[in-house]
Amino acid sequence: MERPSNVFVFETPEQLALAAVERLVDYSNELRDTTEGFSVALAGGNTPRRVYELLATERFKNRVEWSQVHLFFGDERCVPPEHPDSNYAMAYEALISKVPIPAKNVHRMIGESNPNEGALEYENELRTFFAGLTWPRFDLVLLGMGEDGHTASLFPDSAALKEMSRWVVATRNEQSRQERITLTVPVFNHARRTMVLVTGKKKAQRLKEVLRRQPGSGQLPVQAITPINGMLEWLVDADAASLL
Ligand code: 6PG
Repeated sequence: MERPSNVFVFETPEQLALAAVERLVDYSNELRDTTEGFSVALAGGNTPRRVYELLATERFKNRVEWSQVHLFFGDERCVPPEHPDSNYAMAYEALISKVPIPAKNVHRMIGESNPNEGALEYENELRTFFAGLTWPRFDLVLLGMGEDGHTASLFPDSAALKEMSRWVVATRNEQSRQERITLTVPVFNHARRTMVLVTGKKKAQRLKEVLRRQPGSGQLPVQAITPINGMLEWLVDADAASLL
């Protein structure tokens, strides 16, 4: 299979994380003076953790104008913010607690209340931040991909995946029975730039299917990520790319 030109393969997860951070830092500086700050929707899960840790190191953190950065979340698990499953907790520990970002620039999803209320509250927060826009326009979205092809908390066959008017919805991971809050497909597809980070042999088969986009095959959630007027890049490690 010929590898699409927006798929970048790195020998190791560490090299992938470094490349993601370099892109993020450069991009934040390019956009800093041209937009209302630099808005990023963070991914949860394990893969992005190293990206956040690297970004918080001396090597990178001084290259970012943190007062201009706004951190959002692509999805959240419905747990309190200090819970080990919380995406906010992971980002806080790896990044937010280590960089001089103003507290008001960190836009956390409220995972500890009723999921529908948490989703509505986050949608209102986004509508305030992206005032006047039909859809939010994140400068950068980071995403991961699960072994089943899910991304953010958009799971296969879920109603959330088909949502075309709300910006944020409550949903559930049917495997773990965990309640979630997630941004919707149109929100992701209005971003300026999106990076999907995929590592590990276990995801190799799914990645191959996703990138092959066989006609007639059911659409996997991550295949719904098709930016309308933005750039989509896949950053994958050699293990995940081993079947491409
Ligand atoms: C989450 C996510 C989710 C994640 C994938 C990949 O909150 O779990 O945002 O979509 O990105 O499940 O997760 P890993 O990187 O842990 O494999």
